Amino acid sequence: MVERINEILEKAKTAVGEVSSRANFEGVKAKFLGQNGALRELMKSMTTVAAEDKPAVGQAINVCKVEIEGMLTAKLLEIEIREAEALLGKKVDPTLSNHGSCGIFCHPLTKIRTQITEILSKLGFTVADGTEIETEWFCFDALNTPQSHPSRNESDTFYFPDDTIIENVSKNSSERYVLRAHTSTVQIRTMLKNRPPIRVLSPGTVFRRDAIDATHFPSFHQCEGLAVEDGMSVCDLKSTLNFLFTELIGEGCETRMRPSFFPFVSPGFEVDFKSKNLGKLSNKWIEIGGCGMVAPSVFRNCGYEDNASGFAFGVGIERLAMLFYGVDDIRLFFQNDARFLKQFKVSMI
Ligand code: DAH
Repeated sequence: MVERINEILEKAKTAVGEVSSRANFEGVKAKFLGQNGALRELMKSMTTVAAEDKPAVGQAINVCKVEIEGMLTAKLLEIEIREAEALLGKKVDPTLSNHGSCGIFCHPLTKIRTQITEILSKLGFTVADGTEIETEWFCFDALNTPQSHPSRNESDTFYFPDDTIIENVSKNSSERYVLRAHTSTVQIRTMLKNRPPIRVLSPGTVFRRDAIDATHFPSFHQCEGLAVEDGMSVCDLKSTLNFLFTELIGEGCETRMRPSFFPFVSPGFEVDFKSKNLGKLSNKWIEIGGCGMVAPSVFRNCGYEDNASGFAFGVGIERLAMLFYGVDDIRLFFQNDARFLKQFKVSMI
């Protein structure tokens, strides 16, 4: 048996040594460590080993396994370095700290999200967390969204089955859990937890039952903003958005608000911007999100006085990234294709 173990170890050494690609690697790994691999076979033949030899043989198999795993790990690192070097076109030293590695590549959605939070941190906004699984109350009712609103349709929002129970997300028996359809839920979570003055941003993933095409994907990203303070006006909202987009796109960017309806703000507006720096979309008004003054009923749902005042806005992160980087298909953000990502050599530090 011990001979057999040594033989497998020798074979593994040769096989791992000869691996030259990732596909190759997976094959060799399966051959030795997989479900039907050599080590499994060894384990099975333990039944034929005499009882008094079992501990020693078992230990020898284990040592063999650890050695093979070690060889494979080293090989994988070698392959990854080679791949990284091919991608970057230069030598990579894996012993260096990865601090600042975002300076080489940064996913365009991360880049936009970071820019928004950094820009608005200059106005005192901090980042607030939400949860991706929500109850109907947080996603709709607390935001003044009636039962009849189209966004509540099962064809638009992902509902969990009625009998689902999720720890730490409490709900009424009449409610269902949903995957949040927007980040506006964080308005409620924040206002329940804090009292004014409030200035928060909440970037995050949202989910809608959209069919996938060049501009739709069932999970995408938004950034919500909320400010609650005495005496807030539409003027504060407009100047905040103006500041955000001017910093994001550059001088000469204009912001416009068009009256519109969202159940949780009153008055509500669609936000457009126009800039001379947007390639073929330069000098055209482009819709980029929604905003408005927090509706009294929303304040009431959070236990605030009727005379509380505040504004909220929401922008789509993919939409901004598509406009800024001239990306014409949203699916590119999620495919992890190095040829696409390689183009975003942006510095975050
Ligand atoms: N939640 C809205 C959506 O997903 C966007 C939005 C509109 C957010 C108006 C807001 C707002 O805060 O005031 O379409």
